[in-house]
Amino acid sequence: MIFLEKITNKNINNILNTIFNTADDFSYEYVSNNVDDTKWLANYIAKYLKKGDIITLNGELGSGKTVFLNGIASYFNVEKDVSSPTFTIVNEYNIGKDYPIYHFDVYRIKNSNEFLDDIGTEYFDNGICLIEWGDEIISDILPQNTIHIDITKDIEDENKRYFKIWRNK
Ligand SMILES: Nc1ncnc2c1ncn2[C@@H]1O[C@H](COP(=O)(O)OP(=O)(O)O)[C@@H](O)[C@H]1O
Ligand SMILES: [Mg+2]
Repeated sequence: MIFLEKITNKNINNILNTIFNTADDFSYEYVSNNVDDTKWLANYIAKYLKKGDIITLNGELGSGKTVFLNGIASYFNVEKDVSSPTFTIVNEYNIGKDYPIYHFDVYRIKNSNEFLDDIGTEYFDNGICLIEWGDEIISDILPQNTIHIDITKDIEDENKRYFKIWRNK
């Protein structure tokens, strides 16, 4: 049994400082009891995001990857509909800065070779990259500072989700 430090509204700033301002490995858990909790977490994380940051979102269909990304987009007042970019692989959102958010959904990409051929790695330096299914499919080509978020559904409570936020070089 592995016990992860839990993210609460008391320690979240300290934890996000570790996540975004150090090169340390880490592993934290956040328990979301409803969509609003997920949006609260996403909003907090959004405050820390800057150019060059990469977050993967991993978890089965319906786990909440897009809800979380909507929370990030709403922090930046993105007006475009933030649904998964199923047919385009990557969507670009203007966030009123000199770099955008790139929202990827790599579910339909076979592996990292296909990603390198079709998309390339230039996006990684040029904005904030939020990559649905990133850890499952293109983990081997993501930079070391990539932050991974795994979302798991609770077995009984249909509104409960477990977020594991980790980096492991
Ligand atoms: N705590 C929660 N956090 C996020 N979504 C939740 C939560 N509880 C229920 N849901 C529901 O689960 C679904 C998640 O869908 P979505 O974000 O599109 O999943 P994914 O992008 O991972 O396939 C939504 O219908 C949302 O209303
Ligand atoms: Mg989705």
